[in-house]
Amino acid sequence: MDLDLATVDHLLSTTRSVRKRLDLSRDVGPEVIEDCLRLAVQAPTGGNSQGWRWIVVTDPDRRAALADLYRRNAEPYFAASEAARGVDDTGSRILDSARYLAAHLQEVPVHVVPCCYGRGMSDANIAAAGLYGSIYPAVWSFQLALRSRGLGSVLTTLHLACEREAAELLGIPEGVVQVGLLPVAYYTGKDFKPASRRPAEEVTYWDAWKRPRE
Ligand SMILES: Cc1cc2nc3c(=O)[nH]c(=O)nc-3n(C[C@H](O)[C@H](O)[C@H](O)COP(=O)(O)O)c2cc1C
Repeated sequence: MDLDLATVDHLLSTTRSVRKRLDLSRDVGPEVIEDCLRLAVQAPTGGNSQGWRWIVVTDPDRRAALADLYRRNAEPYFAASEAARGVDDTGSRILDSARYLAAHLQEVPVHVVPCCYGRGMSDANIAAAGLYGSIYPAVWSFQLALRSRGLGSVLTTLHLACEREAAELLGIPEGVVQVGLLPVAYYTGKDFKPASRRPAEEVTYWDAWKRPRE
């Protein structure tokens, strides 16, 4: 099957972190979440371990509790990053959007908490790469699949400062790591734009560190 490159490239270059454009008033059915998770679990895992588990949270009380945990860490983090780096226009837009999400997280109709077996692994780089590398590709596939169906999401990690409380809330056992929380909703508006990024050529080396392509 020939892939329609224009569509695929558009999807890959315009899947953004959606916060302010999450439609808080529109329900999200379970089927579309399941369709996207079916695609997500096509992603690779180290040794084909497939240690992922996905908790889809729709219960309003649990979403409110997760949002409270998220907010406990959010404002201190935002203030610290403002103080440490100062903020240019892009930075202040992201912060504004991140603050909006923190304030409204409980209203986002679906929270997805991707988890994987792996607690107790050493923090050596090879172990960390194996652990997170066996879940984040699937998370991104999930986000791409959502976007292609008109739903927005954003990978967040701020609630992980309260990971233990979130584990108690969701009944997650010892030995299972949460790697984030994805608020999911239909997005408002039509399309998204490619982000402004440092050009790939500037951050790509050939054959050795800092060596540009001949
Ligand atoms: C590992 C990781 C953690 C992130 N954590 C948060 C978070 O806790 N809250 C949030 O609002 N955005 C979070 N983001 C989203 C980033 O802020 C966002 O990807 C970045 O600003 C670039 O914007 P874009 O995704 O629209 O291109 C996270 C992204 C990544 C990859």
